[in-house]
Amino acid sequence: MSNVIEQIESQIAKLSSKAVKKNTGTIRTVADGVAKLDGLSDVMYNEMVQFPGGAIGIALNLEEDEVGCVVLGDVAQLKEGDEVATTGKLLSVPVGKALLGRVVDALGRPVDGKGPIDAKETYPVEKIAPGIMVRKSVNQPLFTGIMAIDSMIPIGRGQRELIIGDRGTGKTTICIDTIINQARINKVGLASGAKDFRPVYSIYVAVGQKQSNVVRTIAALEAAGALEYTVIVSAPAADNPANQYLAPFSGAAIGEWFMENGMDALIVYDDLSKHAVAYRQISLILKRPSGREAYPGDVFYLHSRLLERAARLDGKGSLTALPVIETQAGDVSAYIPTNVISITDGQIFLETDLFNQGIRPAVSVGLSVSRVGSSAQIKVTKQVGGKLKGELAQFRELAAFAQFGSDLDAKTKAQLDRGARIVELFKQPQLNPLAIEMQAAILWALQKNYFDSIDTKQVVAAANSLKDYLTTRKADLLASIRNEAKLSDAIEAGLKASADEWKATFAAKK
Ligand SMILES: Nc1ncnc2c1ncn2[C@@H]1O[C@H](COP(=O)(O)OP(=O)(O)OP(=O)(O)O)[C@@H](O)[C@H]1O
Ligand SMILES: [Mg+2]
Repeated sequence: MSNVIEQIESQIAKLSSKAVKKNTGTIRTVADGVAKLDGLSDVMYNEMVQFPGGAIGIALNLEEDEVGCVVLGDVAQLKEGDEVATTGKLLSVPVGKALLGRVVDALGRPVDGKGPIDAKETYPVEKIAPGIMVRKSVNQPLFTGIMAIDSMIPIGRGQRELIIGDRGTGKTTICIDTIINQARINKVGLASGAKDFRPVYSIYVAVGQKQSNVVRTIAALEAAGALEYTVIVSAPAADNPANQYLAPFSGAAIGEWFMENGMDALIVYDDLSKHAVAYRQISLILKRPSGREAYPGDVFYLHSRLLERAARLDGKGSLTALPVIETQAGDVSAYIPTNVISITDGQIFLETDLFNQGIRPAVSVGLSVSRVGSSAQIKVTKQVGGKLKGELAQFRELAAFAQFGSDLDAKTKAQLDRGARIVELFKQPQLNPLAIEMQAAILWALQKNYFDSIDTKQVVAAANSLKDYLTTRKADLLASIRNEAKLSDAIEAGLKASADEWKATFAAKK
């Protein structure tokens, strides 16, 4: 008898119940891209949940008696009572170089019709930003190719610089030009075979924009030969708010892969105003309490945890972020603009008035700053452009006064003349980033008064003729400015000889 009991006991001891825990529940309500779920007692925040028919949800609200989640995919197919299961996986997207040249949606799925993407790895879309200890200070430049920015508001790798302005003031254009400039520099750098050359890969995240604008942007990048160094994450206005909410985080994950693997990347969030609106929509449906301007209180946390992920990592790479914010009638004191201004390392403020006067890019000197970028600026730009910001600010102040008085003293007149010429030189057509060595040569000529005798209206033409002259005849000089990155005696002599010769031919042509 006891034998039988022992046998049974040993059988029981050997028994292993390998029940897989799969937490399931049902849809309580579903509307507007948000589903409320019953019964998912064991779900993680940001965990993917699986709906019938392939749609995926992300658990965002974990409450006592229900789970609120946003649905990615076709909401129309879902109905009350449908079964839903946890997946045990946090939301992640494919990452890696295979994404370069591709357009993907918020989940990293290709939407450009160029076939599947052969990505080897995935990264979670939400990740804790690198701490202070692993960060390194910003000291390598990231050239936008826009003279007004590179010379006065320089940006460094790992920096977060906000592009802010009203509708249609050229915000997107600045970002696209910067991406194109990276591609141009990458091509020159990689062809030179220099061992320490570090290319910059770009990620352009389009949030809440019209599909036609996104298509135009992609076409511009392709035409400029920049698409091959760029990943585009697209969540247009027609996409549901959940996709728009996610896209910047997916883009950040794609950018982090470059940074973690010792490379440099640039990410553009175009734009975070629309991102905030998408987040507001989701939050209102999820019944999160709203605060200022009807945004949920944690919209600040949303953007800070996104932008904190841009960094320069010690011994690894960097991720530079250019978030875009649209203002209403130049009001930078609204809730979302002030939030993002306080999270970033500076802003490039675009003024509607300047834009309408034809001063494009419409960079406001007074309101634009770069708090960390100057340590990344190369020496030659400091040498030729150090005084520009002051001169231009003074010019704007004096110009306001000068309208009222006619007899100006010689010093004021000289300041006005100089300022007017700087304004002209900084005018730059779109899709036309300028190499840093070319910027330096032009600013050197300005500093040495080569433009003083040229009529203000002729300054743009003169600068173009100087550019042509240097490009066609002085490629060596430009290359040595690029490589030495400072004004040596030889370079100054070269610049002087070139400027004299150019000036003589330019004057003769007139
Ligand atoms: N440097 C420039 N020179 C000439 N035209 C420009 C320049 N920059 C922008 N533009 C023109 O101004 C218009 C608005 O530019 P853009 O789309 O970049 O502005 P935006 O601020 O991003 O607009 P939105 O608020 O609609 O997103 C475009 O038609 C563009 O071609
Ligand atoms: Mg835009």
